[in-house]
Amino acid sequence: MSKLSPNSVFITGANRGLGLAFVKHFLGLEEPPTHVFAACRQPDQATELTRLAGENGRVRVVRLDVREDEEIAAAVVEVEKVVGDDGLNLLLNNAGVNHQERGLESLTREKMNYHFDCNVTAPLLVCKAFLPLLRRAANKTDFSCSRAAIINVSSVLGLISYVSKRNDFRYPYNSSKCALNMVTAILAREVSPDGVLVAGLHPGWVKTDMGGPSGLLDIDESIPKCMNTLAAMNKDSSGLLYSYTGTVFQWNAE
Ligand SMILES: NC(=O)c1ccc[n+]([C@@H]2O[C@H](COP(=O)([O-])OP(=O)(O)OC[C@H]3O[C@@H](n4cnc5c(N)ncnc54)[C@H](OP(=O)(O)O)[C@@H]3O)[C@@H](O)[C@H]2O)c1
Repeated sequence: MSKLSPNSVFITGANRGLGLAFVKHFLGLEEPPTHVFAACRQPDQATELTRLAGENGRVRVVRLDVREDEEIAAAVVEVEKVVGDDGLNLLLNNAGVNHQERGLESLTREKMNYHFDCNVTAPLLVCKAFLPLLRRAANKTDFSCSRAAIINVSSVLGLISYVSKRNDFRYPYNSSKCALNMVTAILAREVSPDGVLVAGLHPGWVKTDMGGPSGLLDIDESIPKCMNTLAAMNKDSSGLLYSYTGTVFQWNAE
């Protein structure tokens, strides 16, 4: 398997849960990135992340509410100042929301729009904003997460084929992750010619604030496998949704 060795990585929602764990596991790589941009909405409240940044000069905490266009633009400027002509190697769109109410009873327009904003529109606009830096890092003969890649953290709950297999239905979350999967597939078509790999990643059902205590995996079981999966991605990975185990989900119902 190829090694995961991006020189720079930008991670959204890096203050807690899977995002914070990704930061730690990137730092733990044999060849850790020189620059780990750890984005979060409220750096002043991100105690563990800011402590980590204080201990390790590779980590830079970047303020970013992914729903705020001005903050996205400011984050790109901040990253560009650091990476310069090298560009950005890996963008990990991890930030996401999943409110817990189920069924139509509690559904509102506001809840649907909020989930679509955070889980679909925001990651797509973050991709759009960082694309020039990813293109700068790209090399058309090296499609990999070490060279130039966008990874959208998604979910099997966004697969229509899973509706008949699960009892976990939330209109806002499931339908927004389904749309994110479509975004991944379309974006891959658009930017593959530039040498930028785009793929989705399902981290498993993980015990985080979002996954809850019944999750099947601890964070430190999921993330090392996610890292191995990122390491194994290549040109053929573009446009696909991967499980943390490295298997690829079929877009169509089997
Ligand atoms: N846990 C699971 O079982 C599971 C399964 C499949 C997929 N996923 C996906 O994995 C990703 C991470 O989930 P998690 O389990 O780590 O969830 P989590 O513990 O709830 O963390 C969510 C992260 O997203 C951030 N976030 C939410 N809205 C944001 C916004 N507008 N701008 C910037 N950051 C924002 C949160 O920041 P704040 O602290 O500021 O709210 C937090 O850092 C999500 O995309 C999720 O859908 C998780």
